[in-house]
Amino acid sequence: MIAALKGFSGVEISLDTAKPELVFATELNAHAPGIRTLEEMREVILDKTLVLPKELYYMYRDVYMKKDTGLLQSHKLRYDVTLIKPDMLGKELMKTAGHYHPGDFGELYEVLHGRCFCLLQRYRTEDATVIEEAILVKAKAGQKIVIPPGFGHILVNPGPQHLVTSNWVSSEFKSEYELYKETQGAAYFIMQENAKVTYIPNPNFKKVTALRIVEPAGRIEAFGLAEGSPMYPLINRSPEKLAFLNRPLDFNYADVFVNSSGGLL
Ligand SMILES: [Fe+2]
Repeated sequence: MIAALKGFSGVEISLDTAKPELVFATELNAHAPGIRTLEEMREVILDKTLVLPKELYYMYRDVYMKKDTGLLQSHKLRYDVTLIKPDMLGKELMKTAGHYHPGDFGELYEVLHGRCFCLLQRYRTEDATVIEEAILVKAKAGQKIVIPPGFGHILVNPGPQHLVTSNWVSSEFKSEYELYKETQGAAYFIMQENAKVTYIPNPNFKKVTALRIVEPAGRIEAFGLAEGSPMYPLINRSPEKLAFLNRPLDFNYADVFVNSSGGLL
């Protein structure tokens, strides 16, 4: 099946679920994806004995409209698209490896297809194995997830569809994957059995706070975000709304989530 994603992304991207792969129109600059394999992920998966699936997700980094090359450079921004398969990792939901950002850099995600669980965690300054805040953001296509400064994050695909996300992020840093490897995963493992989702605290942490389950706010005026309104065009229309990605501490993040209604998600 080919699914057009432009309605949510604002740019000509399609999902070919059979391969799976993303297809980009010629006006976009896009390279072959980085492929995250089971072998690379084994450390952070609860069941270390898995042999399948071999490939978990696909990272299309630095996608942009060719006409916007200079704009992205001058605003120090990068736009990536990630495709996460709907398979299970044993009884664990399909997920990304997880990383922190150096310094205080945040990030801005948008769900383009499927459903997304984004697990955010913030550790105590003097001890990375003490989690002081753990937030699970449940989002669907069209919704935006603002990652506030200081939070590491993984993306989880609760299925049954392929999950496709885009993200705006500063081009000025490289993600740090080491802490997630040291703790062999995020603060929680998200499991599913008989259609029931459970959250298992990762025993490799000394302390993990209770999980707070939220949804993205429908409108976030400070960052120019509205549910269902694509975020790529911000770079053309109002790039100042993306300034928080390079000056994260100059902004307030109190209103980016609302408590989960516990509805269809
Ligand atoms: Fe990130």
